[in-house]
This record gives sequence, structure tokens and C-alpha cells, in this order.
Amino acid sequence: MASRDMIVGLDLGTTKVTTIIAEVDENGTASVVGVGHRAAQGMQRGVVINIEKTVEAIKGSVEEAERMAGVQVTGVIAGIAGDHIRSINSKGVIAISRTSSRERTGEITQKDVDRVVEAAKAVNLPMDREVLHVLPQEFAVDDQKHIKEPIGMAGVRLEADVHIITGAVASAQNIYRCVERAGMGVRDLVLEPLASSYAVLTPEEKELGVGLMDLGGGTTDIAVFKDGAIRHTSVIGLGGENVTRDLGLGLRTPFEQAERIKVEHGHSYNPALDAREEVEIPGIGGRPSRKVSRKLIAEVIQPRMEEIFELAMAEIRKAGTWDLLTSGIVLTGGASQIEGTAQLAEEIFELPVKVGYPTGLSGLMEAARSPVYSTSVGLVLYGMNSGHALDTLKGDESKVFSRILRRMKAWFDEFF
Ligand SMILES: Nc1ncnc2c1ncn2[C@@H]1O[C@H](COP(=O)(O)OP(=O)(O)OP(=O)(O)O)[C@@H](O)[C@H]1O
Ligand SMILES: [Mg+2]
Repeated sequence: MASRDMIVGLDLGTTKVTTIIAEVDENGTASVVGVGHRAAQGMQRGVVINIEKTVEAIKGSVEEAERMAGVQVTGVIAGIAGDHIRSINSKGVIAISRTSSRERTGEITQKDVDRVVEAAKAVNLPMDREVLHVLPQEFAVDDQKHIKEPIGMAGVRLEADVHIITGAVASAQNIYRCVERAGMGVRDLVLEPLASSYAVLTPEEKELGVGLMDLGGGTTDIAVFKDGAIRHTSVIGLGGENVTRDLGLGLRTPFEQAERIKVEHGHSYNPALDAREEVEIPGIGGRPSRKVSRKLIAEVIQPRMEEIFELAMAEIRKAGTWDLLTSGIVLTGGASQIEGTAQLAEEIFELPVKVGYPTGLSGLMEAARSPVYSTSVGLVLYGMNSGHALDTLKGDESKVFSRILRRMKAWFDEFF
């Protein structure tokens, strides 16, 4: 068991905790060997509000996946979201180091790239925020712009455009705390929409320009890609649970029943429905059941979905990235499953819209082939890209801690 290389993705959502255990073979291909799913109530709008409940849900979800896989998980790649997430674009410039004093121009090495990214990272952050990701967008060498891979090129000046994602220190700490109390370590903390993008977007879409909207239970996460790099990220504090609450009020029915009605009969686009189509709603507290037209249900759902899409569009426009969406919008997350959602989105955005399902892993993917799993599958794919396979199960703690310490040190260096 101990010799198998594993990557574990743990998605702490507002409504559920999902776990994906993937095994990596000698060729570097990953396949799913375990899937876990537990309904959860310890999170609200992407942040932990109840440690105990969250720890229980993590344990339940991970144990389910462990039983399926026949392994014991010691470390996970966890997602982080919430409306405390902020992102900015920044720039760094350095002089390229020369190997000998007679050389007029130097050859760019990985070290130069690391240095210029580090320079771009030097932004002023309030004490209560930490850098989650620094994602290079493109480089410039002297006067040559739009370079993706500068290593090996010659020049005297290297510039980098990067996308910096920050989050509230307290939110990140609570995730660490919950995972640790559940008996595991956090190998990395990844912004959820960034993770989802690995599972649902193709390289072509990212190249051409695409917007990803992960419609979750408590939040809607947004990411914009162009020329293969991330250009914008933001999180809106509204999601499928708001739709359920609206339905509960509109149909005067408890949350659980409203949830069931939404999943079974919900529709986001009222004009697509015929007023004669009716569904039966069971009565509560001994009352007889009643008939409700689906069009009426859609009348309740649609305004909330419109609000979410309009806020999302405003965020992308505010960041100046709306014109980058050449290949349109991809919706994912549980609430993208409400019928008619892509149709409504197309009408609002006036762009092509589709629902994205997680792909990229083989094995037991049928168990995880729902937009509800996009983030957890994406966390595994992110982990593969950043070389986490070797330390997730066997727990090479020193390596992990040194990485986290390095990150913390870089952060402290900015202030002290
Ligand atoms: N088949 C379905 N049809 C309609 N809605 C669905 C379906 N499956 C899930 N949902 C809705 O999706 C939402 C949960 O989505 P998801 O699992 O992506 O959220 P989460 O990750 O728990 O939350 P968040 O990402 O906001 O923290 C719930 O509101 C749920 O009602
Ligand atoms: Mg989610």
C-alpha cells in the first residue's frame, strides 16, 4: 500500500465535502480509485463557520473514499473559496544575471523566472491577508513582449505579468485546522475556481478566451482565461442555496422540500415552459398534496439566477476582461444542473454557454462525473501539475512544511 503514489483532492463546499483519491502510475497517468461524498453544514459561503461539523464531514467523506480505494490518506490538496478572495494583476522587472562579466546579454534561467515572479509578488497586503497563488501570465524580454516561455532566451531585462490571488488568513487557517483535526495534513491550498478550471476547461478554450462560473451552493466562483493564462478571479456570495430559500418562501414549503422540488422540477428559464405543465408537491403536516405549474417554479428561480449572472458579468466587466471571452462561458458546480440554466445564461451574456463536466482522470470517473465534482477532480489535476504525487500518502512532512514555511517567510518578508 505504502508504495502507491496517490493524490487526494478535498473539496470543502457549502453543501458537501467531496474527496477524490487518484493513483498515479509510473507513466504519470492518474486514475480515480476512491470517491467520497458527505453532505455538510459547517461551511457558509465558502468559509468554515462550524469546525466540529466540518471535521465530521471531512472524516466521513475521506473514509468513504479510503474504503473504496483500500488506502489510508494522510495528506490532501484542499480547496479554498469565499467572498474574502481578492485578485490583482501585478508586474515585476529584473535585470537578467550574466554568467561572465564580458557577456553583454545573459541567458534566462529558471532562477531568473523565479526572481521576476518574486519581484511581481511584492505588493502591499494588509496583515490579515495572505497570498494563495502567484500565476505568471506572460513575460517580456527587453522589447519582445507576449512570451510564454522565456527560459533559454537571451536579454538584459526580464518582465513578468502575474495574477496574484489573496485570501483572508483566518479562512485559510480554519481549513488547515479542520483537516488536521480530521487526522490529515494539507499539502496545498488551491483556489477552487482555479482547481475547477483544470477539470472542465480545455487548453483551446483557455487559449482563445473563456469564462468559468462555478455555481455552487453558497458561492459562485468566477475565473477568466485568455492566451492560456488566468486573467481574473472573483467570488460572489450567492449560489444554489439562495435559489432553494427563494423557492421555500415562494411555495411556502420547508427548505428540504424546496431543495427536492428544485432538483427534480426546477427550471431557470421561464419562457421555455408551458403553463399547463404541472408537478405535484406533497403536503406537509398532514395537509393534502397540491399541484403547482413548473412555469411558476421557474418564475421563482429565474430572478435569482439572473441576479447571479448579472453580478458575475459586472465583476468580469469591472476587471476589464469581458472582451476576452471569445469562446464564451462554461458553467459548472451543482447549481449548473438546474434545467434551463445555460439557456438563461446565453440570453443574458449574449455569448455561447455550455455546462462543463469534469474530465481528465480515468478509472472510477463515472462515480464523479457530475459538475458537483468539478472542484475535487480539479484539485487532483492541479496536484499532478505541481508534482504533489509523491508526498500525499507517504507523508514526506519535511518537504511539505518547508514549502509552507517558505511561503510564509516570503509573506513575512514583505512586512518586516
Ligand atoms: N441535479 C441537480 N439539479 C439542480 N441543482 C442541483 C443538482 N445537484 C446539486 N444541485 C444544487 O447545487 C448546489 C450545490 O452545488 P455544489 O455541490 O457545487 O456546491 P458546494 O461546492 O457545496 O458549495 P460552494 O461551492 O458554494 O461552497 C446546491 O444548491 C444544490 O441544490
Ligand atoms: Mg464548490
